[in-house]
Amino acid sequence: MTQDDTDTIPNSDEQQARAQCRVIAVVNQKGGVGKTTTTVNLATAMAAVGKRVLVVDADPQGNASTGFGLSRADRGLGSYELMFDGMSVEDVVTQTPIPGLAIITSSADLAGAEIQLVNSEQRESRMSAALNRSAKDYDFILIDCPPSLNLITLNALVAADALLVPLQVEFYALEGISSLLQTVEAVRNRFNPDLEIQGVVLTMFDKRNGLSEAVASDVRAFFGPQVYETVIPRNVRVSEAPSHGKPVLLYDLKCPGSRSYMHLASEFLRREAERAEAIAAAAA
Ligand SMILES: Nc1ncnc2c1ncn2[C@@H]1O[C@H](COP(=O)(O)OP(=O)(O)O)[C@@H](O)[C@H]1O
Ligand SMILES: [Mg+2]
Repeated sequence: MTQDDTDTIPNSDEQQARAQCRVIAVVNQKGGVGKTTTTVNLATAMAAVGKRVLVVDADPQGNASTGFGLSRADRGLGSYELMFDGMSVEDVVTQTPIPGLAIITSSADLAGAEIQLVNSEQRESRMSAALNRSAKDYDFILIDCPPSLNLITLNALVAADALLVPLQVEFYALEGISSLLQTVEAVRNRFNPDLEIQGVVLTMFDKRNGLSEAVASDVRAFFGPQVYETVIPRNVRVSEAPSHGKPVLLYDLKCPGSRSYMHLASEFLRREAERAEAIAAAAA
């Protein structure tokens, strides 16, 4: 065993801290389904109720970083350096203007990461190693994944305890879900046996579109109780907020989009609390 190996083995304090932090990958390989919007606003709503939250912007497009007002020029070290330069979360983290909410921004170099990872050692567990070491500082770590099932997404799935899957309410909502589920199964078999689906959230629901109800009930039939009761409506305020560098919760707290993300956060936290109680009861 080399010195490097011993550095990556967590001690018991670190293991305990890791068990108390929940790492959630927000994933769907389709673009434009609401991953980033859900990450940014769920994180904001949880920070608002006192949770210590870290967002990891793992998409080279950097929309989560921009969504918190961090333009490319404002970004220094980020998720690329976390995965490749052996830097720790503390080295690369940026505080957002929201108390209790920090972000690891997407770095410009992340776009080339995919190619570099192909030939690197432990290519699937780089994010996991880095996040595990800093788990003590956070209650929740939300990873905003890129729109593809690539090696960066694989790193997120290996690092995560559970997945949150946003599905846009549209005719093709379930398209691609079987490849996502196959990927999850493969990750469970090889790297991360405990990976769960935390929930599925329906986004951009349009009540004027006659198809919306039908699509939503198809998704509920497919995923059952994994689907959140809270449905995120299509709301223009949600789409305006990023251009102001703000989560919609700060841009217009009273709009339907903000209300729905606050509902989602309370449903999410309730689900998390029930899960923790079930584990405690099983251990007792
Ligand atoms: N509930 C919503 N109502 C209106 N527009 C939305 C809503 N959710 C997301 N959008 C917009 O849809 C686009 C795609 O959303 P985004 O969260 O970036 O998806 P992804 O991260 O999956 O690619 C963005 O322009 C976003 O502002
Ligand atoms: Mg995105």
